[in-house]
Amino acid sequence: MNDVGIESLGAYVPMYSLALDELARGRGVDPRKYRAGLGLETMAIAPPWEDAVTLAANAAAPLFEDGRVARDEIGLLLVATESAVDHARPVASFVHELLRVHPACRTVELKHACYGGTAALMTAAQWIASGAARGRKALVVATDVARYGFGTAGEPTQGAGAVAMVVSSVPWLLAVDFRRSGSFAEGVFDFWRPLERREALVDGKYSVDCYLRALEGAYDDFRAADGGRTVGGRPLPDVFRAFLYHTPFPKMAWKAHDRLLDVDARRRGEELDEAERERRVADSFASQVAPHLAFARLVGNTYTASLYVGLAALLDAAGERLRGERIALFSYGSGCCAEFFAATLGAGAGASPSGLAGLLASRRAVALEEYEAMRAATEPDASLRVPDGFRGRFVYRGSEDERRRYRPV
Ligand code: HMG
Repeated sequence: MNDVGIESLGAYVPMYSLALDELARGRGVDPRKYRAGLGLETMAIAPPWEDAVTLAANAAAPLFEDGRVARDEIGLLLVATESAVDHARPVASFVHELLRVHPACRTVELKHACYGGTAALMTAAQWIASGAARGRKALVVATDVARYGFGTAGEPTQGAGAVAMVVSSVPWLLAVDFRRSGSFAEGVFDFWRPLERREALVDGKYSVDCYLRALEGAYDDFRAADGGRTVGGRPLPDVFRAFLYHTPFPKMAWKAHDRLLDVDARRRGEELDEAERERRVADSFASQVAPHLAFARLVGNTYTASLYVGLAALLDAAGERLRGERIALFSYGSGCCAEFFAATLGAGAGASPSGLAGLLASRRAVALEEYEAMRAATEPDASLRVPDGFRGRFVYRGSEDERRRYRPV
């Protein structure tokens, strides 16, 4: 059976960041809660002239510019987001227009909270594998702006960004084992955003429980699909070289890894004393999870893109070392739907960095008041002048006749 997966990957974050220490100061919270308790250092802030469309187009544009993919090779353009800009016209249609992708292309927006990015990736992989692609490739983009109300418990877990992936039968970066993935779904109000509300509502502690229950359910389904071929009697840290989790805040990845290894031990009937169990989790987390949270600590939650921001971190820092190795990925979207799947690093892993490290290094830190003003504005200034240092290709220039308009920079 031919491999299918990610051939190339680009990522993008807005040029502004807010230090969590600054937010803690403003909200009268002990900064150690955000740093140690949640694992965050800074979060990406989208100015009013960036939205899900510009983030997506800015992530994907470099893939066309450096010749990694041609416009007429793309036959499917899927954009996953929960930050849609219109109830009818999909973000994918705007991105298709801005990037001048060939007209012979299916363009769709997908939504299932943070799980949407994985839904899009799996849909694209199956389109390629089915033969319907006729040799063409899919462009999958996960793009979001995570917003909670000022002063709420969710506020430190905001962020913004996008990851664009060319999916094809040449998985130069990552071959995705979509045939043996495990899913879990359950109707829950853990996190939601009623129509016309800009900020999400969340039952925070309950959402953590839902995430962990979904992880357990998706992993059980993965074991059933796997039939003991990948995960047999060995502990998971011996089966996979790295673990990527949906990361609303980095401490969540720790909770997830702790739960996954516990469930795995129980399913294999292994009995460990508590000290031994804790040591296994700590050792595995330090070498197989924590290094890939480097970008998440600086970007915050990017909803649909979050798992793939983790993949960008892994590819940038450890891609070359892990070529040919198997990794595990867990995607969670509130509401909820989750998927646990395996993938193998390709021969080109690490060869073409996502660009995220450079973008993160060139960001401008904003003070609390500037962040609050940016967040409060819904439309860009009519006299918008894009600041020096902007590294994207497109900006949102406002709505005319209730039609959103974008322009290249
Ligand atoms: P909270 O009530 O502000 O915080 O909510 P807390 O009291 O639970 O404290 C957080 C951690 O900081 C705790 O550690 C404290 O002990 C520690 P833990 O017990 O969890 O290990 N702490 C300190 N540590 C050091 N020094 C201190 C200190 N004080 C406390 N002084 C919560 C936290 C995550 C619930 C909140 O931020 C929230 O509601 N966030 C948004 C929801 C969320 O991210 N949920 C995650 C699962 S759902 C999901 O991932 C889906 C999502 O991405 C959306 C989608 O699918 O589209 C959100």
